[in-house]
Amino acid sequence: MSDRQHFEAGGADYAQFRPTYPPELVAWLASVAPSTDRALDVGCGTGQLATLLVEHFTAVVATDVSGDQIANAAAHPRVTYRVEPAEEPDEPDNSYGLVAAGQAAHWFDLPVFFQAAQRVAVGGGVVALVTYGVVEVPGAPGALIGGFYWDVLRGMWPPERAHVETGYRDIEFPFDQIEMPEMWIERSWTAQEFLGYVSTWSGVKQLRRAGREAELDQFAAALQADAGDALLDVRFPVLGRVGRVGGA
Ligand SMILES: C[S@@+](CC[C@H](N)C(=O)[O-])C[C@H]1O[C@@H](n2cnc3c(N)ncnc32)[C@H](O)[C@@H]1O
Repeated sequence: MSDRQHFEAGGADYAQFRPTYPPELVAWLASVAPSTDRALDVGCGTGQLATLLVEHFTAVVATDVSGDQIANAAAHPRVTYRVEPAEEPDEPDNSYGLVAAGQAAHWFDLPVFFQAAQRVAVGGGVVALVTYGVVEVPGAPGALIGGFYWDVLRGMWPPERAHVETGYRDIEFPFDQIEMPEMWIERSWTAQEFLGYVSTWSGVKQLRRAGREAELDQFAAALQADAGDALLDVRFPVLGRVGRVGGA
């Protein structure tokens, strides 16, 4: 399966079920960027990060290789969406205070993308590869979820998923590193909402293709029975690599 196919025809589900980033993440990114005139969000999906960035940046250009994601993206008067690979931004040199990728950089040809980011960022501009790590849920529902993620879905995830689990610690990052403060995405979800999120996992899509749908159904029934009508305390660590390009 190509990178693109993981996300084609998934835009509506992504828009509905994927968590969004905490406001302090974008406030912090704006605080370290040398200018807040323009931000570029690559691999923007349906605009999860772009629509937050625009609270702090005057204009945001948000691009994604998937037409379906862009078709389902959240409209905003100061966000311009475009179908475009992250590696080939159709943008002038030295034009962005921030080049960001949310939960997407592990799909890119990173050496090519880093060159492009270096080119379009202003001197001292910030490149941010942001992701959220593996979901954490306390108690018995958390144990069920952990078993499903780590055991049932073992071998079902694309290899790129490993970068998400480590917060991109294992990639070669060519910019002057800026340490990210600790941040969490926190949500209260019903079991049904959690299962909606699970349905967007590439590992689950692969499980279905492998004809193992029954294991998904079994997990869903167990989680629903355990959680009942209670809300689950769901949290994700916000992780990533953030750095500054040279030439300030
Ligand atoms: C998990 S989604 C992340 C969406 C959103 N940025 C977020 O933070 O939730 C990953 C996105 O990366 C896009 N993508 C994958 N490879 C890409 C590439 N080479 N260039 C641009 N977008 C890409 C996919 O189409 C998908 O929309």
